[in-house]
Amino acid sequence: MLEVRDAVVRYGAITALHGITFEVNEGEIVTLLGANGAGKSTTLRMVSGLQSPASGSITFQGRDISHTRAHDFAKLGVSHVPEGRRIFPQMSVEENLEMGAFRRRGSISEDLERIYETFPILKERRKQLGSNLSGGEQQMLAIGRALMSQPTLLLLDEPSMGLAPMIVDTIFRIIGEIRASGTTVLLVEQNAAHALRLADRGYVLENGRVVLSGLASELLVDPRVRAVYLGEDVETGA
Ligand SMILES: Nc1ncnc2c1ncn2[C@@H]1O[C@H](COP(=O)(O)OP(=O)(O)OP(=O)(O)O)[C@@H](O)[C@H]1O
Ligand SMILES: [Mg+2]
Repeated sequence: MLEVRDAVVRYGAITALHGITFEVNEGEIVTLLGANGAGKSTTLRMVSGLQSPASGSITFQGRDISHTRAHDFAKLGVSHVPEGRRIFPQMSVEENLEMGAFRRRGSISEDLERIYETFPILKERRKQLGSNLSGGEQQMLAIGRALMSQPTLLLLDEPSMGLAPMIVDTIFRIIGEIRASGTTVLLVEQNAAHALRLADRGYVLENGRVVLSGLASELLVDPRVRAVYLGEDVETGA
C-alpha cells in the first residue's frame, strides 16, 4: 500500500531523515520506534504530505505521491493524527468530529454513529466542549475525527503519550479494532512493548535511519530492542 524509498528530509541545514526505506502492506499495523529526535514524526509528516522529501520516493497504492500536497493526501485516503492530540478546544465533541468529515461517502450522521460505536464515551459527551475532556478522551476524539474521512491508511503519532495505563490499554485495543474494520495503520510509539505486541511489523529509527526492522514478534525478543527500548518492561515483565 505504502512504499517509501531512500527518503531524505531536511529542515533547512538539519537533515532529519537520511534516506529511509520502509513499506506498509494493506491490512497491517506497522510501528515505527525510536528515541526522541529519531525522525518518527518527520516520517509521518512526510507520508501525509506536510513535509516534502528532498530526494527519494513515496508510493501509495501504486502512485508516486512524493510531491503531493497535504490536502490532496487526505483525498487519497491518508489521515494523520499528529502528536499532542490537536483538537478544537472551543468546539463541542460533535463539532470536532464533523470537522473531519469532508471525504464522506454516506451521510454525516452515519459516520458519526460509526465513530460513536467505536468510542461510546464520545457519544455521551457529544455536546461538551473539547477543552472539558480528559486527556484520554481528547486522544479518542482526535482519532475519531481522523476516522470520519474513512481513511485507508491511518497515521498515529504517539497516541498513548501522557495517558494512564488503563487508558493506554483502551487506546491500543481500539487501534486493533480500527485495523480489524479494514483500515491500515502506521503507528509511531515510545511505548515499544505495547506497540510491538499489537503490530505485525516494526522499524527502529535512529538519527534519521532505519537500523532494525522485522516482524514485531521478532523485534519484541531482539536483544538490541530489549536493551534500548524495553529496558523497564523486561525487568517488570509488564
Ligand atoms: N521544524 C523543525 N525544524 C528544524 N528541525 C526539526 C524540526 N522538526 C524536527 N526537527 C529535527 O528533526 C529531527 C527529527 O525530529 P522528529 O520530530 O521527527 O523526531 P521524533 O522521532 O518524532 O522525536 P520525538 O520522540 O521527540 O517526538 C530532530 O533532530 C529534530 O530536532
Ligand atoms: Mg515525534
